[in-house]
Amino acid sequence: MSRGDRTAPHHQSIKKIDMPFQVETNAAEKVYDYLEYWGLHRKPFENNTDPDFFYESYDHIEALERLFYIIEEGNMNFGLLTGEIGCGKTITRSVLKERLSPIRYEVIDLENSNLTFNFILLELIQRMSLENFDFHLKDDELYYLLKEFKKLVDIKISQRKKNLVIILDEAQQLTNESIIELKNLTNITFNNQSYITIILMGQPELRSVVKNLPQIDQRVSLRYHLNPLSERDVAGYLSHRLKVSGHADGALFTEKAVQMLSQVTGGIPREMNRICQLSLDRSFSLCLESVNEDVVKSIVMDLQKQDGKIRG
Ligand SMILES: Nc1ncnc2c1ncn2[C@@H]1O[C@H](COP(=O)(O)OP(=O)(O)OP(=O)(O)O)[C@@H](O)[C@H]1O
Ligand SMILES: [Mg+2]
Repeated sequence: MSRGDRTAPHHQSIKKIDMPFQVETNAAEKVYDYLEYWGLHRKPFENNTDPDFFYESYDHIEALERLFYIIEEGNMNFGLLTGEIGCGKTITRSVLKERLSPIRYEVIDLENSNLTFNFILLELIQRMSLENFDFHLKDDELYYLLKEFKKLVDIKISQRKKNLVIILDEAQQLTNESIIELKNLTNITFNNQSYITIILMGQPELRSVVKNLPQIDQRVSLRYHLNPLSERDVAGYLSHRLKVSGHADGALFTEKAVQMLSQVTGGIPREMNRICQLSLDRSFSLCLESVNEDVVKSIVMDLQKQDGKIRG
């Protein structure tokens, strides 16, 4: 059977796009066929941190609620969110930012933390400034940066009765010196009130980095560690992402396929995305009605041959 002959099991009408060149038309039609075949309007398992895809697993909800708690309390200095690689720290950051009211909170999130403290401070100032803050760093300019930062916290945060939330992702990259300097930001007060909460997010080793810095450790009001998903959450995760992508009931993987996915990925979302994407593609090529455990198994074996990373 050629791809043109196949009958889509979940046919729905999708508007075709006019393409100017033949080669692009072919590329576009491949995606169009694939999505139409599965009754989807977007790819369900791409690695992105779009909050629309966020699946509220037990762990992710617990993490979010605790983060909201320390942010709303104010005065709680540091929060620490760690998690296994690919388990959803960064997507949780996107959701946190999206759900915090911009009227009450100024949220500044740094995607990477491999910057010296001076550059972190400069970045914070630039994001808070209305005008383009043009500052050329020299060795002795920490004093001026701190002065500018405090001025902005006063004008843009304290006077507007807001709170500043600084989120540093990949915080395992921070040097001990930078973490200690960050602590000094939480000392900034106006009328005896503190306006800054700092959330450190990072891979598991961040826990021991913080433990070894007692002056920081004592100021951490929240610690939470994101674990891989349970088998029940794996099923919910797949179904949620499929439904967000347009599938009617989110049931494209057979029960046994879900069990196998859970087992081979250990419930790590990034690994699941990779295998699910390839499994959907292969099941499409084979004209299957759903994704079964044989397909998942064949994908896992191919990946094992390639990189030997997936458990099995
Ligand atoms: N709760 C979730 N809901 C939906 N998708 C998720 C969830 N958790 C993780 N993912 C998916 O898994 C991928 C990996 O998640 P993310 O990048 O947030 O992990 P991470 O913990 O930040 O990884 P790293 O340690 O490499 O920084 C994301 O692209 C996202 O698509
Ligand atoms: Mg991340």
